[in-house]
Amino acid sequence: MPERPTKETSGGPVPCRVVVCRDCCCGSPKVTGDHAAQTARLRAEVPVRISDCLDVCDQANVIVVQPSTTGRAAGARPVWLGLVNDPDATEDIVAWVRAGGPGVAPQPDILDLYAFTPPRRRAEP
Ligand code: FES
Repeated sequence: MPERPTKETSGGPVPCRVVVCRDCCCGSPKVTGDHAAQTARLRAEVPVRISDCLDVCDQANVIVVQPSTTGRAAGARPVWLGLVNDPDATEDIVAWVRAGGPGVAPQPDILDLYAFTPPRRRAEP
């Protein structure tokens, strides 16, 4: 599979992508789950950026789904997902991102269970 962009590039449209928190809590032994497998699975399917602590450790593991350019044009904003610690949730995220993500494809109902509102200053990781 070809390498996909992981950062915004100037000028061109940006695809839907995910920010995966990996720091003091997310991805650490403090949280149950196979974190390496989660990251590998996401990287195999969608554009991924790894982030330092997003300051919402009580929600570890935290994954933020960033809208594509098209999604943002439709009014979508980043969707913060917390307690993403099982493979099924990871698969649901993969499916949503591949379908277009926020503003393009409907958010799977199951992900409502993981969605949370971030602190105001962290609206955009
Ligand atoms: S380590 Fe992920 S929010 Fe702190």
